[in-house]
Amino acid sequence: MSDNKGCFIVFEGLDGSGKGTMLAKTAEWLFNSHLVDKILLTREPTNSTYGKQIRKMLVSDKEPMTKAKQLLNLYLEDRKEHLEKVIKPALQLNTVVLCDRYKYSTICYQQAQGIPLDKIISLHERMLVPDLALILDVSPEIALERIRQNRAKYEKFEKRFFLEELRQNYLALKKQLPNENIKIINAGLPPEEVFASIKRNISMVLK
Ligand code: TYD
Repeated sequence: MSDNKGCFIVFEGLDGSGKGTMLAKTAEWLFNSHLVDKILLTREPTNSTYGKQIRKMLVSDKEPMTKAKQLLNLYLEDRKEHLEKVIKPALQLNTVVLCDRYKYSTICYQQAQGIPLDKIISLHERMLVPDLALILDVSPEIALERIRQNRAKYEKFEKRFFLEELRQNYLALKKQLPNENIKIINAGLPPEEVFASIKRNISMVLK
């Protein structure tokens, strides 16, 4: 990594892919390894006005296919604000930014909700491209089982048919965005192996 530039790494995957756990483990590893001085752990949707509006919509309506356009606009506004107020200022201070979800979530989730792929991609054309996007790939069966073990209720996008579609959308990303650094990680493996693969990929971009 150069001296005057941070590094922007995003974690993506289905609800239940284990990305939250892996993100926390990654932050701890990076910090203890002394590979970097400053780490920012952040997420989308954020806790801003837009993010709060999104979360409200997600709990008030459990049908995966509804409110696609409103959600698309909110996720975009939330992201623009997040980039300007949080992500870019941190990168300027030579920080490694680890972000739980980013534009790939919109590309995959809102596409699964029926918004055309080209439209979503073009709406992101001028937004910062991450140095690395890690896609934690799991089968819908594994994702649903992990969600069931963690909490009592399923959320809006946690229906099997929807997760199936999402997974295919995530797996297609590398082909659709050939110039971006997208890595698919097999997150159905034991956690130590998933983490080892994440560390390998991150070490390569930090060099
Ligand atoms: P969140 O509550 O952070 O869920 P998780 O802990 O699983 O990341 O995110 C809310 C939901 O919003 C999640 O199901 C994914 C979805 N989402 C989109 O549909 N589009 C987006 O652009 C983003 C960022 C999230």
